Amino acid sequence: MDLFVIGGGGREHAVIKSLKKSAHVGTIYCAPGNAGIAQDAKCVPLNPTDIKGIVEFVKSKAIGFVVVTPDDPLALGMVDALEAVGIKAFGPNKAAAEIESSKVFSKNLMKKYNIPTAEYSVFDAPADALTFITAQGKYPTVIKADGLAKGKGVIIAQSETEAREALHSIMDDKIFGSSGNRVVVEEFLTGPEVSILAFTDGDTLKPMVSSKDHKRAFDGDEGPNTGGMGTISPNPYYTDDIASICMQSIFLPTIRAMKKEGRPFKGCLYFGLMLTEKGPKVIEYNARFGDPETQVVLPRLQSDLLEIMEAVADNRLNEIEIRWDARPSACVVAASHGYPGNYQTGKRIFGIEQAEASPGVTVYHAGTRIDDKQLVTAGGRVLGVTALGCTLAQALQKAYSALDEIQFEGKQFRHDIGN
Ligand code: AMP
Ligand code: GLY
Repeated sequence: MDLFVIGGGGREHAVIKSLKKSAHVGTIYCAPGNAGIAQDAKCVPLNPTDIKGIVEFVKSKAIGFVVVTPDDPLALGMVDALEAVGIKAFGPNKAAAEIESSKVFSKNLMKKYNIPTAEYSVFDAPADALTFITAQGKYPTVIKADGLAKGKGVIIAQSETEAREALHSIMDDKIFGSSGNRVVVEEFLTGPEVSILAFTDGDTLKPMVSSKDHKRAFDGDEGPNTGGMGTISPNPYYTDDIASICMQSIFLPTIRAMKKEGRPFKGCLYFGLMLTEKGPKVIEYNARFGDPETQVVLPRLQSDLLEIMEAVADNRLNEIEIRWDARPSACVVAASHGYPGNYQTGKRIFGIEQAEASPGVTVYHAGTRIDDKQLVTAGGRVLGVTALGCTLAQALQKAYSALDEIQFEGKQFRHDIGN
């Protein structure tokens, strides 16, 4: 069967490499893809949010199955549009994707169904939000834009001044557009963070192996939040006991709640958790695979990814057994100098072949393109250098040695992933 994967980052490269291992997969198309994905799939110059264009393309090529990976096409109803013309897809429909695309929706859902999360209030006027924050007088306080904001919509304000500035930029200046029409003001929680991706067909939920992201730009968790600078799997804080608490108090209650609300969630549901002194709590839901979590989770998948995805689409995930490689994995992101702020692109990249010569190492492309027959940088996050090892220490050592082989002007990375 021919497949179509929507997206063009490191996460999509990992999804495609995993799908390619399936015995049932013919040609994989990807829109828009990148220079690395082009070695594994046929890239199509369509925008991931071009619902009409993608539906037409998929129909014209008689593609049997579509994997919708990024948040924005999901929130716009890509899966609904594909299903309306009889094309099977992996991913939630628009109503279910709201669990990520509206923080107000997800917070209200958790409150209604007693799913542990930070205390919160919702505001649609900045003055009201500020009055509430100053009356509380508790800092840091967390301010979140309601809608999608490319991972930048959360501001942790250390003072009244910072809170005022955050509210002004989100709600008056609309730096995230209409995503900032409402905000959630939330209690600041502390504890280790865990990312759990789970396959679910709306009734059955099967968590994947755990992982840990490193969201800050610089070593020692300093600097601004990014999309993610590196990941490890498994997450050492996520014990079997904690996993069973999460299953009973968070994962199953969430999919039951979504079903009860008439929005059964099908696809990959991402639980961003914080292990607080009072137990695990939900920091956020995502309606999709994480990036760069996927780059450490899918290399450990031993089962056939297409079979799992089709079982999700057909509501028979309960029939599928999912096997995982016991070996840990690590991914270090090589980013462009200046990311997540301004950065330059078009810098030549050398050494990927040498990096991948080491067994167990895969270099996923995130922001790359071909210019004049040369591989060059094309984004903030450029590559995800990933390795499997017998131990986490070995996986990290292999990933960092492979990263050393890779050169491009302005290569920026964290030296302490997994520390
Ligand atoms: P999000 O985009 O929702 O994942 O938030 C980005 C990051 O902000 C999270 O990974 C946390 O590190 C932090 N964060 C979000 N909400 C809270 C909270 N209530 N308390 C403390 N940190 C938070
Ligand atoms: N790595 C965090 C995310 O994908 O949202």
